[in-house]
Amino acid sequence: MARCTLLVLLVAAVALVVPLAAGQPWATCGDGTYEQGSAYENNLLNLALTLRDGASSQEILFSTGSNGAAPNTVYGLLLCRGDISRSACYDCGTSVWRDAGSACRRAKDVALVYNECYARLSDKDDFLADKVGPGQLTTLMSSTNISSGADVAAYDRAVTRLLAATAEYAAGDISRKLFATGQRVGADPGFPNLYATAQCAFDITLEACRGCLEGLVARWWDTFPANVDGARIAGPRCLLRSEVYPFYTGAPMVVLRE
Ligand SMILES: *[C@@H]1O[C@H](CO)[C@@H](O)[C@H](O)[C@H]1NC(C)=O
Repeated sequence: MARCTLLVLLVAAVALVVPLAAGQPWATCGDGTYEQGSAYENNLLNLALTLRDGASSQEILFSTGSNGAAPNTVYGLLLCRGDISRSACYDCGTSVWRDAGSACRRAKDVALVYNECYARLSDKDDFLADKVGPGQLTTLMSSTNISSGADVAAYDRAVTRLLAATAEYAAGDISRKLFATGQRVGADPGFPNLYATAQCAFDITLEACRGCLEGLVARWWDTFPANVDGARIAGPRCLLRSEVYPFYTGAPMVVLRE
């Protein structure tokens, strides 16, 4: 489905809205920078490759690690969307390696969101030590809305129900690898079908995953305009996405009919 959606990046902490028509990656940049050719850069780039190789060689498509001696230690996490292939995960990891410096003008702490993976690279390890979440979040939303004739309140309820059901499924059984896809099938003009994914980093418990995702569901409509037709919240512990078009591969794991 090659639909091109314009996304707007909201950096909640700074109350800043950045339209990013140019596309991936959507980045959240921290303070503090490193020099080109520095030990930190070398450690970061090598870690990005290690994370790529690690995530793409495992079924969970997830990897964490650190590289380098203090004070140039870099900590990282790479999580690929649960429905993609190992080779697609490898490619997304390569994009992280390619973009990690330029996306944030060599900021030491970067969160990079792609359609097919999420990466965090930092000089601090608190985002890995936190096993509860949600941690620092990158929020994205579509620049288009559901049709003006649609029942916005009903749409919001339907999105919330789908997100909650998809989140519950992802955290419901370890065999699902903390990932779920969902579809809502309805007859409402303006939003007959809704699609969602929910995912957690594989180094937190099922209970923490459920709590992390429930937290994202709870803040969804405080974060986004009520009529927006697609949005995402991505963090190092859990991620949630809703769209009015299919964006994941395979049959939905959760189907809501109403
Ligand atoms: C979408 O809806 C918002 C109000 O929530 C409005 O400000 C915006 O202009 C609309 N965008 C488009 C593309 O119609």
